[in-house]
Amino acid sequence: MDEVKLQAFMGQLVSDMGAAAMLANIILGDELGLYKAMADSQPITPEALAVKTGCNARLLREWLSAQAASGYVEHTAGSFRLPEEQALALAIEDSPVYVAGGASVIAALFHDKDKLVAAMRGDGALAWGEHHPCMFSGTERFFRPGYRAHLVSEWLPTLDGVVEKLQAGARVADIGCGHGASTVIMAQAFAASRFVGFDYHAPSVAIANQRARDAGVADRVSFQQGSAKDYPGTDYDLICYFDCLHDMGDPVGAARHALASLKSDGTVLLVEPFAHDTLEQNMTPVGRLFYAASTFICTPNSLSQEVGLGLGAQAGEGRLRQVFEAAGFSRFRRATETPFNLILEARK
Ligand SMILES: C[S@@+](CC[C@H](N)C(=O)[O-])C[C@H]1O[C@@H](n2cnc3c(N)ncnc32)[C@H](O)[C@@H]1O
Repeated sequence: MDEVKLQAFMGQLVSDMGAAAMLANIILGDELGLYKAMADSQPITPEALAVKTGCNARLLREWLSAQAASGYVEHTAGSFRLPEEQALALAIEDSPVYVAGGASVIAALFHDKDKLVAAMRGDGALAWGEHHPCMFSGTERFFRPGYRAHLVSEWLPTLDGVVEKLQAGARVADIGCGHGASTVIMAQAFAASRFVGFDYHAPSVAIANQRARDAGVADRVSFQQGSAKDYPGTDYDLICYFDCLHDMGDPVGAARHALASLKSDGTVLLVEPFAHDTLEQNMTPVGRLFYAASTFICTPNSLSQEVGLGLGAQAGEGRLRQVFEAAGFSRFRRATETPFNLILEARK
């Protein structure tokens, strides 16, 4: 037994437990508007923050102390300050690096622990709709900043001829659309095109339709309940999957249905969690996050559906290529990537 290694590992575990506890504190700060009340990066006392937010001053002092010990806020002479960089991640919803909203995805893992215990002891299945509701809103808030930052300005232009078609007026299907964040963002950018989102989770479809109405794009965007293997239409210019293909039980069947639903010169845009092809290569902070989430979310969801391929959130490009080749696509390439996403293009 190596005492030094033991102490180092204990240090890591204390740090991990602190991180998990801080996530609950991030959710508190998000829900109570505490970060937003500090978004101007000015020093503020707990008492002044209490007046500004209507919260209890003694509890705020404790919350702020935890934030300071985590490096989220600075502390000087009894006042606390949220630096600009932290404000971008924790307070400013329109920022490309806003993560506070997505923290509730992690909260859902704790809410759903008993269901995972049962799945682990059983057939491994836990369907998307069985999760705590904070999973659905958290997923929308986790992914939307990235889609807003990259989808229109960076990802779509890397696809062969797609932006020109969208500008001229294209027909687009967004499969596994969830609350429709990606669909609405594309519709706002391409007024001549028509968009339809499909998801098998009816409550998500209802919220997606509300999002389209709120954004003023409901005349060109609709959302319908439908599985990835049976949605209607055979003339799509673009079929998209945003962070959902690996969640499906039968991704080959889904890709085969896309092949039949695309125009002859149509394109599939596949956005998947960033991953390399092997576990060893994925032993990174991002890989760790995605494997941990995939244990609770993506893999059991896939096992709850027919075929139950169980790709997992770290499938990687090689495995995804096999899926599209098995479905009959002849072209498949990595269009671009971010630290969180692989952006892949498939053509007939
Ligand atoms: C991780 S969420 C991503 C949602 C959305 N695309 C986004 O980026 O915010 C995965 C979505 O895939 C949907 N889904 C899973 N399996 C499906 C299937 N077989 N057919 C249609 N939708 C499916 C789920 O209901 C869920 O909304």
